[in-house]
Amino acid sequence: MTGVLAAAASGMVGRALAGQGRAERRLTAAPARVALVGSDRPETAVWAYDGEVPGPVLRFRQGERVRIVVENRLPGETTVHWHGLRVPNAMDGVPHLTQPPIPPGGQFVYEFDLPDAGTFWYHPHVRSHEQVERGLAGAFIVEERTPPDVDRDIVWVIDDWRLTPEAEIAPDFDAFFDASHAGRLGNTVTVNGRLPTALAVRRNERLRLRLVNVSNARILGLVFEGHVPTVIALDGQPVAPHAPAGGRIVLGPAMRADIVLDMTAEPGRSYAVLDTFYPNGAYRLTDITYEKSAPVRPRPLTAAVALPANPIPAPELDRAERHTIEFGGGMMDPKLMRAMQAGSLSQADVAAVRERMRAGRIWTINGQSVLGHAHEPLLTLRRGRSYVLALRNETAWHHPMHLHGTAFHVVSRNGRPLLRRVLQDTILMAPGETAEIAFVADEPGDWMFHCHILEHQAAGMMGTFRIS
Ligand code: C2O
Ligand code: CU
Repeated sequence: MTGVLAAAASGMVGRALAGQGRAERRLTAAPARVALVGSDRPETAVWAYDGEVPGPVLRFRQGERVRIVVENRLPGETTVHWHGLRVPNAMDGVPHLTQPPIPPGGQFVYEFDLPDAGTFWYHPHVRSHEQVERGLAGAFIVEERTPPDVDRDIVWVIDDWRLTPEAEIAPDFDAFFDASHAGRLGNTVTVNGRLPTALAVRRNERLRLRLVNVSNARILGLVFEGHVPTVIALDGQPVAPHAPAGGRIVLGPAMRADIVLDMTAEPGRSYAVLDTFYPNGAYRLTDITYEKSAPVRPRPLTAAVALPANPIPAPELDRAERHTIEFGGGMMDPKLMRAMQAGSLSQADVAAVRERMRAGRIWTINGQSVLGHAHEPLLTLRRGRSYVLALRNETAWHHPMHLHGTAFHVVSRNGRPLLRRVLQDTILMAPGETAEIAFVADEPGDWMFHCHILEHQAAGMMGTFRIS
């Protein structure tokens, strides 16, 4: 390991890792029309980055400094949040909290270093449940200094849309039912902004597939018929190569997985890629089709693809300060139901909950339901200190909880320690689930912590941690 890398790995260099190249880019957000559901069907009016849905894949190198000029030609305010990237607080793209929103006709210059390699993404943070749904989302890829040896590096930005029969985006962004249940589940799933067509492969090819779930609410459970994917990174952060539990890659909204797929099945045949997450809603997302041609090589590659860890400071678990974070609210609120059954809930209590929900404060974090981005922090953390947060999902619903500003270590789930070192920026919590996450409070500022089911976020499921 070279001096710089060794220092970086110990967390000394951190975000100051710069001066290894600069990259500049413009990005324009504006209304556009795209052939989401095929050229034989009507086009869909969307909001797009550079006229494309998803937005262009932004690709840079680890250690580079990037400068991205975002121009807003939308009819409303916007910002860009660089999901999963460790950027200075002022570059985090949260309106009113880290920057003023970009007005229509205005622009904002984002500039930051890229200390970490991995698969990330970008999207607005103003009315995200509307703006992301309208098409504003794109992959942000930071290449390793020495990328692993694969034949192809493929990005799948997977999105779920609620379209009308005329292929227009249904305008019911603020529907109470979606906000209080599982979020805005759509009726059309696209890969890279199109109804997916089969992925053509050759025998013994090795693919790196970067899966990015940019859906507002749909949780994906991807199964690759006839193949065993190897997970090499989660939320952009390298993980020891392993087969996913039950052969299925589960990705809540905002989550990513990098997988290696060795194409070891039969030439000339097709294999389904299924999404089986919702018990009664399984469907075939796409196919992998083998060409009849000769194999790429006589035998598949067997060397494991292990990515080097990113220079994220490691928390000191034994000395960490601990806090409990509890998620509540939503329909069929278990706490409420228990209280009702026990007879310990008055008519007035019930009326108060109903009133809170009617006011759009449907979900809570530690009893608070927060609307808007600027408010009193949930926790104030000391810079340089390690923290363990015990998360408790006391609701009847799944929540992909996202922390801005750093990736966290997932220490345990439901009281059981994890088998391997896992870093994520978004943790999917099943109903009733508990988990412990740990991180070093590193970069000063107010950082958001929210559900990435965007309708839940808009209905109160967010808060901030202040690092000072
Ligand atoms: Cu991807 Cu606060 O968001
Ligand atoms: Cu949620």
